Amino acid sequence: MIKSLRGMNDILSEDYERFTYFINLATQVAQNYGFHFIETPLLEETALFKRSVGESSDIVGKEMYQFTDKGENDVCLRPEGTAGVVRAFIQQKLDRAGGTHRFFYHGAMFRYERPQKGRLRQFHQFGVESFGVDSVYEDATMIMMVADILKRCGIGYRLQINSLGDQNCMPQYRDSLVSFIESVEEEICEDCKRRKSTNPIRVLDCKNTHCQLLYTKAPKLINSLCEGCESDFTKLKQILDDNGVAYEIDTNLVRGLDYYSKTAFEFVSDNIGSQSAIAGGGRYDRLVEFLDGRATPAVGFAMGIERLMELIVMPESKREGYYIGAMDAETVDLVVQLTQSKRSEVKVTCEYKAKNLKNHLKAADKVNAKYCCVIGENEHKDGTIWVKDLEAKSESVIPLRNF
Ligand code: HAM
Repeated sequence: MIKSLRGMNDILSEDYERFTYFINLATQVAQNYGFHFIETPLLEETALFKRSVGESSDIVGKEMYQFTDKGENDVCLRPEGTAGVVRAFIQQKLDRAGGTHRFFYHGAMFRYERPQKGRLRQFHQFGVESFGVDSVYEDATMIMMVADILKRCGIGYRLQINSLGDQNCMPQYRDSLVSFIESVEEEICEDCKRRKSTNPIRVLDCKNTHCQLLYTKAPKLINSLCEGCESDFTKLKQILDDNGVAYEIDTNLVRGLDYYSKTAFEFVSDNIGSQSAIAGGGRYDRLVEFLDGRATPAVGFAMGIERLMELIVMPESKREGYYIGAMDAETVDLVVQLTQSKRSEVKVTCEYKAKNLKNHLKAADKVNAKYCCVIGENEHKDGTIWVKDLEAKSESVIPLRNF
């Protein structure tokens, strides 16, 4: 039997209801915040991700679904959504148009990771990207938007924030961190030794417990911020305080993608096991320029839908629509006609097999219909239909012309 690939799941039934419930709710919130939908291809040139997510990141270094297509192009299934949206933003010349452009998207992402609970190879994100707003209010708004979506889904969280500095303060910090890493180099893991030369700040994110212990003594970026980054970070905290959004400062939060500067944030849940990050994002003011666009400030986030699906508190499911069935085989044609005429207005489940009333009622209950409508011998003779309101538990016989 052919099965789906490891780490790639089907989404159906109750899961699909959760999935679409979340997309609809998050879409509503994104629209309330002034964002517009964007769809970008699943397949892009590999160079796009190398230049944006970064060659030193695990995503590009180890996890890309990369191959050569029939036209000899080096292509890759998107591991995340930001790079494609930035590419589209530049390709559509919106960087040259100036002004503010706010997009949201949702769709499948692909990372060749080691699958485990909450960590898939094909997973879905809901994300937003905002271009052209050089204000920390926009960073705070992004964070509040995630908080808003999570609140509406009934999901509790912890919010971690950090500032990654900018081109003024980051290089100096990087030098002091490299000196520190050199002082403990004998004791750090092989990955960190490599990170020292590729992207030293990623060592702070190392999962090795011995490394983590060593890095508690590392210089903190938050103490080396330049005036602009410092005042933006202070302002960010104040806006979150003013709006009642609780946060923790995590000086080791560096994120797994290389394009961030200044604000970085992550929402984590304590109720889904080790893969606890449910959303993450931050500012990426230099990425548009890196990808050959006109320098444009930008900030965004993405939420992991599969992880959220475990946590969403669904509203009580309501009975909806009609179930229509016949008690005699000769009446099935009529039942199909009635179904067709009703389907332009409402959800209708049609049963093609003649059954007794008890079985129809059972089946109507199973599909959560509000009305169970059945035509028996008498109804057929009289031109009527028997209808039971399964919510109010009331029954009536209605002339077909009034149905
Ligand atoms: P990210 O932190 O790599 O950020 O991913 C965002 C979210 O996607 C994570 O918090 C997690 O919930 C989910 N996720 C990531 N990998 C997996 C996986 N293997 N299985 C299941 N869920 C996963 C980004 O992708 C950035 N593009 C976010 C962003 C947008 N920054 C600025 N704009």
